[in-house]
Amino acid sequence: MDMNLSITNLALLLLLSVCAETQPVIFDIRNYGASPNLDITQAWRNAWKEACASTCATTILIPAGTYKLTQVKFTGPCNAPIEVQVDGIILAPENPNELDGNAQWVKFSYVNFFTLSGSGTFDGQDITSKDSKHFHVNVLGCNNVTFTNFTITAPSTSPNTDGIHIGRSSDINITNSFIGTGDDCISLGGGSRHINVLNVTCGPGHGISVGSLGKFKYEDSVEGFFVRNCTLKNTDNGLRIKTWLGAPGNTTVSFLHYEDIIMINVSNPIIIEQDYCPYNQCSKETPSKIKISNVTFKSIKGTSATPDGVALICSSGVPCEDVELNQIDLTFNGTRTATKYANVIVGKPPGCVA
Ligand SMILES: *[C@@H]1O[C@H](CO)[C@@H](O)[C@H](O)[C@H]1NC(C)=O
Ligand SMILES: *[C@@H]1O[C@H](CO)[C@@H](O)[C@H](O)[C@H]1NC(C)=O
Ligand SMILES: *[C@@H]1O[C@H](CO)[C@@H](O)[C@H](O)[C@H]1NC(C)=O
Ligand SMILES: *[C@@H]1O[C@H](CO)[C@@H](O)[C@H](O)[C@H]1NC(C)=O
Ligand SMILES: *[C@@H]1O[C@H](CO)[C@@H](O)[C@H](O)[C@H]1NC(C)=O
Ligand SMILES: *[C@@H]1O[C@H](CO)[C@@H](O)[C@H](O)[C@H]1NC(C)=O
Ligand SMILES: *[C@@H]1O[C@H](CO)[C@@H](O)[C@H](O)[C@H]1NC(C)=O
Ligand SMILES: *[C@@H]1O[C@H](CO)[C@@H](O)[C@H](O)[C@H]1NC(C)=O
Ligand SMILES: *[C@@H]1O[C@H](CO)[C@@H](O)[C@H](O)[C@H]1NC(C)=O
Repeated sequence: MDMNLSITNLALLLLLSVCAETQPVIFDIRNYGASPNLDITQAWRNAWKEACASTCATTILIPAGTYKLTQVKFTGPCNAPIEVQVDGIILAPENPNELDGNAQWVKFSYVNFFTLSGSGTFDGQDITSKDSKHFHVNVLGCNNVTFTNFTITAPSTSPNTDGIHIGRSSDINITNSFIGTGDDCISLGGGSRHINVLNVTCGPGHGISVGSLGKFKYEDSVEGFFVRNCTLKNTDNGLRIKTWLGAPGNTTVSFLHYEDIIMINVSNPIIIEQDYCPYNQCSKETPSKIKISNVTFKSIKGTSATPDGVALICSSGVPCEDVELNQIDLTFNGTRTATKYANVIVGKPPGCVA
C-alpha cells in the first residue's frame, strides 16, 4: 500500500477496523458462473474485482475440479488481505497461440497481504511457443505474500516458464510447495527483499535463481534471500546467482543464505555467474558492476550431473565478498565434485550466527 496516507487511505483503514467479519469472506468462483471443464477466466476476474474491493479479509475459492484458464492479470492494491485458494486443477490453453506472448499466463501485481494456497495445480500443458515469456506466476510490486502447499507443473521443454518470479517485492514466503517447469523454479529480479523459501521441491527446470541482473540500468538491489530445506531434482542449475557482463549501476546482491539443500542429479549445483552474456548481447570488456556479498551456502548435499559442484565466477571489477561454503557434500558419479573460483573472497561473514 502507498505509504502516503491520503484521506482515502485513512478512510479505508477506519473501515478495515470496523469490519464485522472475524473470518475471511469466501468468494467461491462457482457463484460467478464457473463450473468444471469450462473457462473460468471471466468468473475469476469478476470474483477478484469484488474481493479486492472488500474492506474485510477475503478468500477466493477455486474448488476441486479441472478448469480452463486463458490468461489473466490480477492487480491491486486491494482494501484488505486477500487469499486465493486453489484446490482445483487449472489448465492453460493447449494452443499457445491463444496466449499473448508478451504477457504472463497468470499475473498478480501490486497486491499486499496476499496468500496463494490450496492443494491445486497450475498446469501449463504444452506451452512451447518460441521466444515467449510465460512466467507462471509473476509477483511484482507486492509485499507480505505467502505461497503455500502450491504446485506448478510444466514440461521441461517449455521455454521461459519460470515457476514464481519475484521483482520489486518484499516479505514473500514460499513454503511446502512443488514447482516443476521449463525455466527457473523461483527467480528473483531487482528489488526483491526478505524472500523466504522453505520446504520446496524443484524440478525439472533451471533451479533457484537470483537474476539475471544488470541487463537494464539501475535495477533495485536484492537483499535477504533465505532458502532452507529444499530439494532440487534433475535441474540444470541448483542455486544460481547470475549477472550480466558490463552490468551498469549500483545494484548490489547481499545477505543470501542457503541451508539444508538436497541436490539430485543437478548440473550446476552451486553457481555464481557474473560473466553472463548470451548471444553476445553485451560489452565483454567491462566487468559486471554488481557487488555480491554476504552469501552463505550451508549443508548442501547430494549428486551433481557434472564434475563441477561449485563454480563461483565473480566479477573482476567488484569481487564477491564474504561468501561462505560450509558442509558442501556433492558427488558426481561417486566422486567428490570440483570447486572453481574467480574473484571471490571466501570467509565467514562477520555477524553471521549460522
Ligand atoms: C495441502 O494439500 C493437501 C492435498 O495435496 C491437503 O490435503 C492439505 O489440507 C493442504 N494443506 C494446507 C495447509 O492447505
Ligand atoms: C514469512 O516467514 C517468516 C519466518 O517464518 C515470518 O516471520 C513472516 O511473518 C512470514 N511472512 C509472511 C508474509 O507470511
Ligand atoms: C506484513 O504482515 C504483518 C502481519 O500481518 C504485519 O505486521 C507487517 O506490518 C506487514 N509488513 C508490511 C511491509 O506490510
Ligand atoms: C513439506 O512440503 C511437502 C509438500 O511438498 C509436504 O507434504 C510436507 O508436509 C511439508 N513439510 C512440512 C514440515 O510442512
Ligand atoms: C524438509 O524437507 C523434507 C523433505 O521434503 C520434508 O519431509 C520435511 O517435512 C521438511 N521439513 C520442514 C521443516 O519443512
Ligand atoms: C543508483 O543510481 C541511480 C541513478 O544514478 C540513482 O537514482 C539511485 O538512487 C542509486 N541507488 C542507490 C542505492 O544508490
Ligand atoms: C541426470 O541429468 C542428466 C542431464 O540433465 C540427464 O541426461 C540424465 O538422464 C539424468 N539422470 C537421471 C538418473 O535422471
Ligand atoms: C557482511 O555483513 C556484515 C554484517 O552486517 C557487514 O559487517 C559486512 O560489511 C558485510 N560484508 C560486505 C562485503 O558488505
Ligand atoms: C562413472 O564411474 C565409472 C566407475 O568408476 C566409470 O567406469 C564411468 O566411466 C564413469 N562415468 C562417467 C560419465 O564419468
